[in-house]
Amino acid sequence: MEHLKAEIREYLSKTDNERIQYIKENRWIGYPRAKYVFDKLEELMLHPITHRMPNILLVGDTNNGKTVIVDRFQKTYPPVTREETGVLEIPVILVQAPPIPDEKRFYNSILDRLGIPHRINDRIETKQSQVLHILRHLNTKLLIIDEIQHILAGSTSRQRTFLNVIKYLANELRISIVGVGTKDAMNAIQTDSQLANRFEPIHLPKWQMNEEYLRLLASFEYTTPLKKPSNLIAVETATIILGMSEGSIGEISKIVKKAAVEAIRTGEEKITKSVLKSLDWRAPSERRTLSNKMI
Ligand SMILES: Nc1ncnc2c1ncn2[C@@H]1O[C@H](COP(=O)(O)OP(=O)(O)OP(=O)(O)O)[C@@H](O)[C@H]1O
Ligand SMILES: [Mg+2]
Repeated sequence: MEHLKAEIREYLSKTDNERIQYIKENRWIGYPRAKYVFDKLEELMLHPITHRMPNILLVGDTNNGKTVIVDRFQKTYPPVTREETGVLEIPVILVQAPPIPDEKRFYNSILDRLGIPHRINDRIETKQSQVLHILRHLNTKLLIIDEIQHILAGSTSRQRTFLNVIKYLANELRISIVGVGTKDAMNAIQTDSQLANRFEPIHLPKWQMNEEYLRLLASFEYTTPLKKPSNLIAVETATIILGMSEGSIGEISKIVKKAAVEAIRTGEEKITKSVLKSLDWRAPSERRTLSNKMI
């Protein structure tokens, strides 16, 4: 049972269905790049308040763990009520940008996230001052905007508006902003030299055949309750998984899960080349081509 983490071994005595259930759940797996991003975010939290707070733009391909990282980070800074004053503080706020670049909807998503009642029809200026007032009151240090490419999409003038909104919030509140998104977001930010200076881009690259990738596979294996060792890090297996996943952690995770479930159902109890080949699997690029054809 050396192939399993100690607390996972006890799952082997459970029913197949219980094991399958467990496998399907999402669990955090640490890897060096995620730790690096965490440390960078931590640095922002510890930064003294200045008139030019540093910001970060976390950039990466889709399905590669960006949201999972910022979500986990936010949970390490939960809301607290200061004992001396009884005042509620929310050090980190994570919002999802609205799907279209609309300033009012952006403010609405912050207010919604905080569960603050607001009137949909209020003017932009009213919303903006409400958001400023609340974030100041909550002593927020970090505003994380996920899917930031949505609000930076559209015409150049739309982009400008939003870049100004971000600048305004950062300047007025003296907080750090973390944008999370795809390369499009990065291109948009780079059109504004002032912002480009203040946003440090951090990439979450796709996985490649190297030590880090093999370690990731080893971690997946270590936490997947199968009775036999799969030895996912064997070159052939690792190469097949990398090819099927096209290098994103979301797809790697999905493949390992599907294969593990199959290995339990067939009684094989380990992920082998033939289990992988038997999966009804289409690589993400194939799926995209297919859905484009259907449109
Ligand atoms: N650290 C991790 N440990 C285990 N699984 C992970 C981890 N990070 C990501 N995953 C898996 O990858 C999936 C995709 O991650 P996530 O939603 O963070 O991607 P993303 O980069 O935000 O994608 P998008 O740009 O489409 O929003 C997760 O649902 C999870 O299954
Ligand atoms: Mg995401």
